[in-house]
Amino acid sequence: QKRSVSCRTAPNIALIKYWGKRNDELIIPENSSYSITLSEDDLCTHTTISMSPEYKCDTFYYENVKQKEIPKRMQHLLDEIRRRTSKRKLDNDHFSYLNWSVEIHSHNTFPSSSGLASSASAYSSIAIGLSTLFEDTEDGTITPTCSYLARIGSGSAIRSLYGGFVQWYHKDPALSECMYPAEQWPELRIVILVFNSKTKPISSTDAMKRTTQTSSLYKERLKTIDEKIEQLNLAIKKRDFENFSNIVMRDSNQFHAVCMDTYPPVMYLNDQSKHFIQLVHEYNNASKITKVAYTFDAGPNPFCFILQQHLDEFLDLIKYFYPAQTQHRFHDQIKTMKLNR
Ligand code: DP6
Repeated sequence: QKRSVSCRTAPNIALIKYWGKRNDELIIPENSSYSITLSEDDLCTHTTISMSPEYKCDTFYYENVKQKEIPKRMQHLLDEIRRRTSKRKLDNDHFSYLNWSVEIHSHNTFPSSSGLASSASAYSSIAIGLSTLFEDTEDGTITPTCSYLARIGSGSAIRSLYGGFVQWYHKDPALSECMYPAEQWPELRIVILVFNSKTKPISSTDAMKRTTQTSSLYKERLKTIDEKIEQLNLAIKKRDFENFSNIVMRDSNQFHAVCMDTYPPVMYLNDQSKHFIQLVHEYNNASKITKVAYTFDAGPNPFCFILQQHLDEFLDLIKYFYPAQTQHRFHDQIKTMKLNR
């Protein structure tokens, strides 16, 4: 007797950053956020979840290695799905599942040194897997329980449940939705540069808590978000790269300014990140049009947006300025990707 399900989801890159929670436990965000989900063909987390009366306890395997403990947040997801399932009116058959232990196997197709946060893809696929198993839904259906599980795993994971351009609403934190599929902008490309692959000095969870407690700039930032998202939606609708870039770069810069205004300050950017920011602005200025936009999440590695017709020229520029990033294992270090469906 065994039931199992496999699924996969991709990481997302925030264009308008989620930062700060109104409720830490339920992960209710202070602001709406907006992101792009990467293509699952290039980078994703594969998750297989199985349940059986023969398993002695819940176990988690990461990259085929059995972990000593289930991470706290993952345990929370398991507790929640069992609690919710037991509350539903179930036939006897279902009830027996509740006493079965589960095995979760998680595998990333991208290296942890890629500069991409894996928690969004990890928790979104675990959420899909658990809700499919316990709720008996069609593979891949996004139910309210699935959204809830992804969110309490990691806030940004709720956005990886969908492909393309995705919004997560602070007024309705249970809701994230695809605003435009990736086909809306087929020429848009993403390049990731890895300046530092070590883990961040402070987790986003801890840092955002510190920000909400200490930064006054943060409160000002919150007032600007809804208008920015509206403008961003319009820019994507019109495929207006100039405005898209403007909004995305400014939001990244504002987010890192808020991190600096946090006390003690949170610094995710390093000297190379700052050099890169200057370089992009000089390059765009010299080109007389905006060719490249950057954004940085909670780390020093830039995610760059560029239209296909300028990609080769931009890659040459990177090779010239950052030979260390391009000399060895070029494809491991810089990824050029299409967006998800
Ligand atoms: C800077 O989703 O990792 O990447 O909800 O505490 O798990 P928790 O935080 P997390 O924060 C992501 C922060 C960010 C911006 C973003 O992805 O919107």
